[in-house]
Amino acid sequence: MPYKIAVLPGDGIGPEVVAEALKVLKAVGAPSEFEHALVGGSAYDATGNPLPPATLELCRQADAVLLGAVGGPKWDRLEPVELRPEVGALLPLRAELNLYANVRPAHTFHALVNASPLKGKNGLIDLVVMRELTGGIYFGKPRERREGGTQAVDTCVYSRFEIERIAHRGFEIARQRRSKMVSVDKANVLETSRLWRETVTALGTDYPDVELSHMLVDNCAMQLVRDPRQFDVILTENMFGDILSDEAAVITGSLGLLPSASLSDARDGRVFGLYEPIHGSAPDIAGQGKANPLAAILSAAMMMRFSFGDAQSADRIERAVERALNDGLRTADIAGHGPTISTTQMGDAVAARLS
Ligand code: IPM
Ligand code: MG
Repeated sequence: MPYKIAVLPGDGIGPEVVAEALKVLKAVGAPSEFEHALVGGSAYDATGNPLPPATLELCRQADAVLLGAVGGPKWDRLEPVELRPEVGALLPLRAELNLYANVRPAHTFHALVNASPLKGKNGLIDLVVMRELTGGIYFGKPRERREGGTQAVDTCVYSRFEIERIAHRGFEIARQRRSKMVSVDKANVLETSRLWRETVTALGTDYPDVELSHMLVDNCAMQLVRDPRQFDVILTENMFGDILSDEAAVITGSLGLLPSASLSDARDGRVFGLYEPIHGSAPDIAGQGKANPLAAILSAAMMMRFSFGDAQSADRIERAVERALNDGLRTADIAGHGPTISTTQMGDAVAARLS
């Protein structure tokens, strides 16, 4: 059966980078059917809703979703906030599709090691942030309550169930890597963090082969800069994961290259997931052929690996990206003062290097 992929290009550079990811998916020969739908500001402009019901339905019918990026200054001030792309499309997509496990690998490409703000060997990192994505302060009720204009409330809630299911995914990923997991929390202050630590520790006995340790989030932020190579898998809750994954990403020196997967449970033997670059919609360079499509292309590789169990296609795509970089091909974001190629040229270059 062909893979059914819902394609949501979104806003800004989203459509340009997604087009290159589709080019590479077709070139790799995976049996796929693609269906496009609107999301984000462009969906709001067309329908008045940043997440139209038809888009959500298409995602539900699909085996996996490929998303570009959403958002832009044009929609930043819409009221109520539910009309804005981030709050009105991204968060409900995550919640409605039960995408609780967010996998954010941060890995330095050898060809780009000098782009890391940490110079030398320290910048050579290979870690995964496993972020809980559908709970915590992003979704706790009451939500964003404004009390009399002078006080506001957000609520952080976690259940043992939510912690267990993300921790399982973390342990499983650690097993496929270097079998080291650091669980990050703020257990010296927050009750949700104490439940988190207790739950992860208890689950750890099921994974004696994984070396588990715990770290407070402020210390983790510091350790990531001091010695990022100590990390293999970082398991953490929604908001800490948001912050730490940006920090890890910038250490690789190439934000435009980092993919992500947001996974749900397995469905008929396939893991349902949404795949997207971690970069945003970059409205300032949209439509100019300047965007780096590699994060979108690598997100497509993650889709092959996680949703379709096709590690071979994933490896082929990842190797082709590596080759293009080793051959000196650079989009503007990673070119320094050297020559640059366009978004489509980079997509062509990767497709041509698939072997
Ligand atoms: C991310 C983004 C989102 C988040 C925003 C846009 C809602 O920062 O995916 O990391 O905070 O989750
Ligand atoms: Mg973020």
